[in-house]
Amino acid sequence: MGNISYCITNNISPEEYMVLREAVGWGLFPLEQAESGLKNSYIWCIREGDCVSGRPIGLGRLVWDRGYVMYIADVIVIPEYQGNGLGRVLMENIVGFIREQLKPGYRFMVTLASAKGKEDFYKKFGFVERPNDAFGPGMHQWFENKD
Ligand SMILES: CC(C)(COP(=O)(O)OP(=O)(O)OC[C@H]1O[C@@H](n2cnc3c(N)ncnc32)[C@H](O)[C@@H]1OP(=O)(O)O)[C@@H](O)C(=O)NCCC(=O)NCCS
Repeated sequence: MGNISYCITNNISPEEYMVLREAVGWGLFPLEQAESGLKNSYIWCIREGDCVSGRPIGLGRLVWDRGYVMYIADVIVIPEYQGNGLGRVLMENIVGFIREQLKPGYRFMVTLASAKGKEDFYKKFGFVERPNDAFGPGMHQWFENKD
């Protein structure tokens, strides 16, 4: 990786999280919803420089039901830092953590919804596209209260 100095922490505020989402053009929602989501997931936040005062430049989250279901969400590197290996750092940390949770006989199904054009990024870490011979397409639906 280039000469970017960074630190990885699980600490990110809802406001900082929204700034990262905004930086990659993703939709926003109430801070209360962001706060709850952050509280209930494993977080890898890359801060530029040091972990205390450095500004967030990357993020990855893992939601785990503590059973076999895991979901990777919000893998973000802000545009001016993309292409420097930080996305790889995030994914390697997340995948490393997942492997560490594998007790004897355990198995996890880890899913994610790739943004358009990012499929090959995730393939580098062992993820396969759906549909395929064994599985139908992944599906999703947004529910929204516009009030
Ligand atoms: C996807 C994203 C996280 C990648 O982060 P990044 O820091 O630019 O990625 P890296 O520099 O660590 O690249 C890691 C590897 O993936 C490859 N790669 C990165 N983006 C890719 C893409 N869109 N398609 C194919 N390969 C890609 C790199 O070439 C690199 O390969 P290598 O390590 O074998 O040399 C970043 O582009 C991003 O935040 N995009 C906007 C938000 C988004 O769409 N996130 C995905 C949500 S599902």
